[in-house]
Amino acid sequence: MSQPTIQSAEQIVLFGAAGDLSKRKLFAALYHLYNENLLVDDVKIIGVARIEFDDAAFQAFVKESLNTFIGEQINDEKVEQFILHFSYVKLDFAEQKAFKSLAKVLKGDVYTLYYLATPPSIYGLIADGLNAHKLNSEYARVVMEKPIGNDLESSKVINDLVSRHFEESQIYRIDHYLGKETVLNLLSLRFANSLFSTNWDHTCIDHVQITVAESVGIEGRWGFYDGTGQMRDMVQNHLLQILSLLAMEPPTDLSSENIRDEKLKVIKALRKIDHSNIQDKTVRGQYTKGHMNGDKVPGYLEEEGANVNSSTETFVAIKAEIDNWRWAGVPFYLRTGKRMACKHSEVVIHFKHQPHNIFDSSFTQLPANKLTIRLQPDEGVELTVMNKVPGITKELQIRETKLDLSFSDLKDASRVIDAYERLILSAINGNAGLFIRRDEVEASWQWVDSIMAAWENSNEAPKSYASGSWGPVSSISLIARDDREWDE
Ligand code: BG6
Repeated sequence: MSQPTIQSAEQIVLFGAAGDLSKRKLFAALYHLYNENLLVDDVKIIGVARIEFDDAAFQAFVKESLNTFIGEQINDEKVEQFILHFSYVKLDFAEQKAFKSLAKVLKGDVYTLYYLATPPSIYGLIADGLNAHKLNSEYARVVMEKPIGNDLESSKVINDLVSRHFEESQIYRIDHYLGKETVLNLLSLRFANSLFSTNWDHTCIDHVQITVAESVGIEGRWGFYDGTGQMRDMVQNHLLQILSLLAMEPPTDLSSENIRDEKLKVIKALRKIDHSNIQDKTVRGQYTKGHMNGDKVPGYLEEEGANVNSSTETFVAIKAEIDNWRWAGVPFYLRTGKRMACKHSEVVIHFKHQPHNIFDSSFTQLPANKLTIRLQPDEGVELTVMNKVPGITKELQIRETKLDLSFSDLKDASRVIDAYERLILSAINGNAGLFIRRDEVEASWQWVDSIMAAWENSNEAPKSYASGSWGPVSSISLIARDDREWDE
């Protein structure tokens, strides 16, 4: 199918418009884009869901969501203008005929963005319905939310169903971490600074740590979460995307395909973890009751709706290794969990120790340099270097000093731009670079499936950790076995 020259979407169709993601994120992202004049002037935003709304009731629903989730920064006058761009179509996704009502309100040959914020199990039905009414022309783009499937096989099924009616170039798979300022900054840090790019391999780097700690529990999502777990919910997508941006070779340019080709090579080079090495390379955990900010919180098995026999993991730690020239012998330690001590995501690059220590009066072993990239909250970059202690002493004394490379502009900005805003804008403008290609999704599932299968066959329950802690004790042993420790 030949692609038209990409222009900004004139029609945006939100499937799942009454759902949580729309309420919390999508309406707000569109509102901010509208305020910044980044949407076409007469953009039409059509909400689609199963529940009963007329246009006015839907506009009121959008307004209420904006007031709840944007809060004080909202401009009432702008909101009144903005909601006039919204209309609503009630539609049962299983009924192909019902898509006729959507076809009636859409213009034919204008660039249209379909945002699928529904459960992935119905992406295929939506694609069929759009096709049945010729709503999948070359002017259409489809944004698909994660999780695409629960494993490699189910992700192939979903992707096959959608790709019966849309070309790969029309499909935008979201991983909202790729819309985060700090995650994107990894590209500039690595490739715009020779200081880092020339030292970014096994000759200079000892190991890398990636931590994505969340303080939240499962927030009333037991049904969804228990069938998913932290490995599928966070590692398969967000952590592997961060890892691939950190580890990929320099792409020839910033084009979507070149970046995605390089990321894919990293994921494919991840050393397989299976029953033979699962004990050494992974730890899975499940939170028990504890305290968060002084308040008592229930354990995972005591959450509302819980199945008390569940062995779903809410914490994962992995020692990942990349079998290629650049990263031979450099472990990437990954760690993510719910109900951890605080919300804190960061990447720490640990450089190698100096080969010889002439400052043994200050340190028996010289601390190594560290580059810390705080992804959220309190975004910033810090380089730990050794420095002379100022003043006069009998022997020359040195100490660790942190150079703060924080993004001062970010801190001064009147608001932090949400990842969804950046991603929706990219999709509206047909820029696929921040979205995941099918082969990346599949390679990630392949690596993750092998770990999940090994856990299932091990018959070993997840290790407990108290809510408000940094995870099970065995996650400390995972890294301590290599004479290293987690950055806290
Ligand atoms: C989502 C997961 O993809 O990312 C959630 O489904 C998780 O379980 C969330 O809480 C974390 O996102 P963020 O942007 O708050 O780090």
